[in-house]
Amino acid sequence: MLAPHTEHQPKLFSAEDLPIPANGGERPFRTQLLKWVGNKQQQAASIIAHFPSTFGTYYEPFVGSGGVLGTLAPRHAVASDAFAPLIEIWQTLRRDRAALKSQYAKRHELIARLGKRAAYERVLAAFNARPNGADLLFLCRACYGGVVRFRKEDGCMSTPVGVHDPIDPSSFAQRVDIWHARTAGTDFVQLDFAEAMHRPVAGDLVYCDPPYADSQAILYGAQNFSLARLLAAIAACKARGVHVALSIDGTKFSGRKLCDVPIPQGLFERQVFVRVGRSMLKRFQMDGRTLEEHEVQDRLLLTY
Ligand SMILES: C[S@@+](CC[C@H](N)C(=O)[O-])C[C@H]1O[C@@H](n2cnc3c(N)ncnc32)[C@H](O)[C@@H]1O
Repeated sequence: MLAPHTEHQPKLFSAEDLPIPANGGERPFRTQLLKWVGNKQQQAASIIAHFPSTFGTYYEPFVGSGGVLGTLAPRHAVASDAFAPLIEIWQTLRRDRAALKSQYAKRHELIARLGKRAAYERVLAAFNARPNGADLLFLCRACYGGVVRFRKEDGCMSTPVGVHDPIDPSSFAQRVDIWHARTAGTDFVQLDFAEAMHRPVAGDLVYCDPPYADSQAILYGAQNFSLARLLAAIAACKARGVHVALSIDGTKFSGRKLCDVPIPQGLFERQVFVRVGRSMLKRFQMDGRTLEEHEVQDRLLLTY
């Protein structure tokens, strides 16, 4: 969902003039650049509220669509992800945002010529023949629910076209300007999380939002992810004096275990609950009655 002022009054000021509050400001930052399953933008302010009050460089080794990064708008940051085409999008945003706008516009134009489904299929075929950021950019905005999913047999992206109309190029271009300003201090790198987590030094902060290790479908081409490896990387960070916050949803965590992987004794100092929103299912079943008791909550495990 877009904040009303960005959606309806885009021409009143240039994106570069927008204030960038460190905590997302009073008005939540809702403008999304990419559509990505698992996006954390809605919860970002509640997550950031549990970050240490001061820290050195901010690291986000599972950046995805950058929901927390974009809300935080850190002064110095390294954002990484194992998925190369995704990082290509972020690097284009930093190096040549006009190119990013035209990549999206060129693919969006196909909709008027071919219709939405055929346009999507054409871009999907091009991406599967040669995975690249420009095609992924359009696909993630146009695919069903932002679910970038790959077939096990051949590794091809298999998500069908979404039911919605992808945003028009002028609205996308405004988002590019806003996100360009908010990521001014961020270096984007394609890295496996373990390698990325070697880099932080004492006083730095790492925020981890890993993929579902136990998911059936291969989401985002989730490369070589294991919770055991992640817990080892977090322990090594903590031993160096690096602060780590780990997002975990209720289904992945029970007792002293994360999806059946034991959590090393003393690794996390505390866990806090983060408000996600109301369960759609409950909303439907309750037929409009009060929903206060049905808040859905994720957890943050903190090494500090
Ligand atoms: C739950 S998503 C992150 C969502 C993000 N917080 C957002 O707001 O969009 C997990 C991300 O981890 C990435 N990933 C999967 N395996 C990885 C690995 N081994 N190393 C680094 N990133 C990985 C995926 O490409 C995906 O973008």
